[in-house]
Amino acid sequence: MTKEFPKGFLWGAAASAQQLEGASSEAKKAKTVWDYWYAKEPDKFYQKRGPEHTSNFYYRYKEDIVLMKNVGFNSFRTSISWARLIPDGKKVNKEAVSFYRDLFERLNKEGIKPIANLFHFDMPLRLHKIGGWENKEVLEEFYYYAKVAFETFGDLVFDWVTFNEPIVPIEMGYLNDKHLPGIWDMERAMQAGFNTMVAHKKAVKAFKEANIEGGKIGIILNLTPSYPKGENVEDIRAAEIADAFFNKSFLDPAVLGRYPRVIRDVLKTEGIKVNYSQEELDLIKNYKVDFLGVNYYQPRRVQKGDSKSNFKQGFEKYFRSYKWPKAKMNPHRGWEIYEKGIYDIAINLRDCYSNIPWFVAENGMGVEGEEKFIKNGMVMDDYRIEFMSEHLTWLHKAIQEGSNCFGYHVWTFIDNWSWLNEYKNRYGLYRVDLLNQKRTIKKSGRWFYNLATTNKLIE
Ligand code: BG6
Repeated sequence: MTKEFPKGFLWGAAASAQQLEGASSEAKKAKTVWDYWYAKEPDKFYQKRGPEHTSNFYYRYKEDIVLMKNVGFNSFRTSISWARLIPDGKKVNKEAVSFYRDLFERLNKEGIKPIANLFHFDMPLRLHKIGGWENKEVLEEFYYYAKVAFETFGDLVFDWVTFNEPIVPIEMGYLNDKHLPGIWDMERAMQAGFNTMVAHKKAVKAFKEANIEGGKIGIILNLTPSYPKGENVEDIRAAEIADAFFNKSFLDPAVLGRYPRVIRDVLKTEGIKVNYSQEELDLIKNYKVDFLGVNYYQPRRVQKGDSKSNFKQGFEKYFRSYKWPKAKMNPHRGWEIYEKGIYDIAINLRDCYSNIPWFVAENGMGVEGEEKFIKNGMVMDDYRIEFMSEHLTWLHKAIQEGSNCFGYHVWTFIDNWSWLNEYKNRYGLYRVDLLNQKRTIKKSGRWFYNLATTNKLIE
């Protein structure tokens, strides 16, 4: 069966500055939290490999753009490094400007639409030291950074994103120890989360002020549809609360300009206070996004909470995760694979979010030990082809039913470094040999080329 996608559909991949560029302390780039953390605690990082061990895109981007062409991309999203562009928060780094301008120019020339993101987990160290998103001054710095980015690259990039997965540094840094500051504190998590949303709104305001002709601004959220364990009231309520905190907490203010009632009720019951001003509420109300990017990897399965749990340190009081017995698992990564989740997201956006234009900004399959699938020099990743194909089948169905999806980006185009996980889970359409940086197309790369260049999924 052939499934044709809408004309002009975007096919490509996502990446991020810290994960791809390398040159982490070169060309006047200032340190980020990741550079700092690695220097301080290398043991936390898988195989002790820190952010300087990436795929060196900073030096290899010209050749890498050719590789993008060879897998049929017509679009590519990456982030600008805040610490590279404005190392001291004031003066714009000319070397960074040349690098990003050349990158965007070359992408445009090759017919690969650049989508630029402002923030992908890489807080400049000097701002982390004054409290990161908890400090309202950092929001002003972000506004300035956004303005500089729009003014400097607005003639080359028309599709902009403020944040990738803004909830991740909050969840992993304030209710876990996988990002800095690495603490368990719900009150601080809520304040940092709220401030992140205000920072996003300030960037949207800066974007409107920059008046980029034909420009659009969005945000990328990792949505995890929440499914209750049972059909009983308690499990259904648990799923509603999980959905509110993990999806709607960013989706609703970004798209609808308000926070869901459920969140306000829970925080009130728990006596958790968030500091905000009327001016901030007005920003939230008035600066809505033009489009949305959705990263989808896996759903959330929940059951009723444990009333004895302490809400100050986590959500278990209101919902707990459980393993669905029928779940299909990624045997090489441990995450659930639930393709229909993408359809449920698409229909929800159609019905509850004014059918906002959106694209799949990340979808992909991480595989540990992928070298065991190499045959005659090529990774034979049929599992990844099946993964993308099944997600695309559900996505196509949702588009047929009217969801306003305009593209599909895979995570990611070449294997890349991933935070504490280093290269543990490989996701690329190209394999990267860490000894010599050689890129080799995988079977999925060949498959993606046909998909993208015909605009058709052939099963
Ligand atoms: C996404 C992030 O959520 O997941 C990426 O945007 C990240 O930055 C990707 O690399 C894969 O995560 P992991 O932990 O499997 O490498």
